[in-house]
Amino acid sequence: MISCFYSRRVQCFLLIHTIYRRNVVVNLCSRLTVIIRVFHCWFSQEMLSLSEITSLLSLCGGQFSSQQEVCVNSPFWILNIPSEEMARGLMRRTVCAKSIFELWGHGRSAGELYASLKNYPTDKMLPYLQPDSTYKIHIHTFNKTLTQAQKIKKIDALEFLPFSGKVNLKNPEHIFWILEDYGMDPNNVPEEPFDLYFGRWIADGQRELIESYSIKKRHFIGNTSMDACLSFVMANHGRVKPNDIVYDPFVGTGGLLISSAHFGAYVCGTDIDYNTIHGLGKASRKNQKWRGPDENIRANLRQYGLEKYYLDALVSDSSRPIWRKGTLFDAIITDPPYGIREATRRTGSQKESVKSSERSTENHIIISSSYHLSDIFFDLLKFAAEYLVMGGRLVYWLPIYRPEYTEEIVPRHPCLKLISNCEQMLSSHTSRRLITMEKVKEFKDQDQNSYLSDGQYMPYKGHNSFREKYFSGVTKRIAKEEKDNQK
Ligand SMILES: C[S@@+](CC[C@H](N)C(=O)[O-])C[C@H]1O[C@@H](n2cnc3c(N)ncnc32)[C@H](O)[C@@H]1O
Repeated sequence: MISCFYSRRVQCFLLIHTIYRRNVVVNLCSRLTVIIRVFHCWFSQEMLSLSEITSLLSLCGGQFSSQQEVCVNSPFWILNIPSEEMARGLMRRTVCAKSIFELWGHGRSAGELYASLKNYPTDKMLPYLQPDSTYKIHIHTFNKTLTQAQKIKKIDALEFLPFSGKVNLKNPEHIFWILEDYGMDPNNVPEEPFDLYFGRWIADGQRELIESYSIKKRHFIGNTSMDACLSFVMANHGRVKPNDIVYDPFVGTGGLLISSAHFGAYVCGTDIDYNTIHGLGKASRKNQKWRGPDENIRANLRQYGLEKYYLDALVSDSSRPIWRKGTLFDAIITDPPYGIREATRRTGSQKESVKSSERSTENHIIISSSYHLSDIFFDLLKFAAEYLVMGGRLVYWLPIYRPEYTEEIVPRHPCLKLISNCEQMLSSHTSRRLITMEKVKEFKDQDQNSYLSDGQYMPYKGHNSFREKYFSGVTKRIAKEEKDNQK
């Protein structure tokens, strides 16, 4: 269980395990009570879904507040939101939620569900049960497969509902769903569901984007191209909207620009790697040695019909920003290098280059000194504080060595408020955290470093050894021990 949220404007209910509390929602609440079917495909990504929904609700004019209790690892969440229009707005953006339904009843047994349905106000049902209407009823059972006969029996048991329209399985006007939750443990599936719901389908989420934007079919990719689903989640955390300007300072192949452009934002980026920006050099695809003509970020956007949203991508070192002063960006959405699959480097001076540069004929840029992770995050936050519009968001991944993790090591800046911090596992001892921050205070040029006297803003140097820890014998040994223990 984690916190649930109430507010005066919006009452949001994510599924709570106390049936009585849920009945209170259904019976007493005059707003639209909906149930969201959430997609949990990755271990420990429930928080990602919760923060996505929270960000999108605030984008649609709703909001969560901080007093409710939510069971995030359930596949069904109950929300209480002001309107069906807002529910549709949410689903036009989310990639974490599959569908949203107007909740008509729920219970912890079939009897409780039927009692709850009998209590649902008839005047709310009737518009969807008219004699001249058509409908169908579906059933979805989470973590259990039912036979067709079992499904039909459950649907037939609802004949007490005042349906007077005609059943139409192909093209019905109204679709209703029975949803049953048999828990999350595939090795321990109960005979009867823990929770049952019945609702009217309102809309589906955008999960098909994951397939249509899959990097498997993308024109230009690199070793670290961002997965399509996470790119959309990041754009949603960044509350990207039409006509925004979104910037990625570690743009690579532009994976994060694509999702923002899909939502109607104008996009640009910079990267230190000349070859990546110019679509030159070695290809990342198997069976292909060199990048072909037109393998570049612009062509990627063109592939999806989004070229009109492409501003540009430039070769530039993010430790030395090239931008004129001023608030330029509505969102900064990025995946900085962790030093695992790509080096963390910055440009060096001509003098340094004589000693230690890795100048290569392909790179066209002197890349000499290593760019420590603590400096990367420090610079990124400072840049965001300066260049984001007020209320604009910074969304980025922070690599973590889990045994050392505490919230204190998440970089801070006095102009940026931490909105969410969601973990995605990489290995048993490493993970990355999707950090979302919002600009809440004007950046003052004269005191840009004075905040460092406050210890909480000092860069955490432990980030610098992430690469060593990632590859360390200790990590491998622990992983092996864990594997042996599981045998
Ligand atoms: C994790 S990758 C980003 C991948 C990108 N999201 C994509 O979808 O392709 C990090 C990128 O940061 C770039 N980089 C490393 N150091 C940099 C620096 N000092 N300034 C700008 N870019 C840098 C690398 O060249 C790499 O392309």
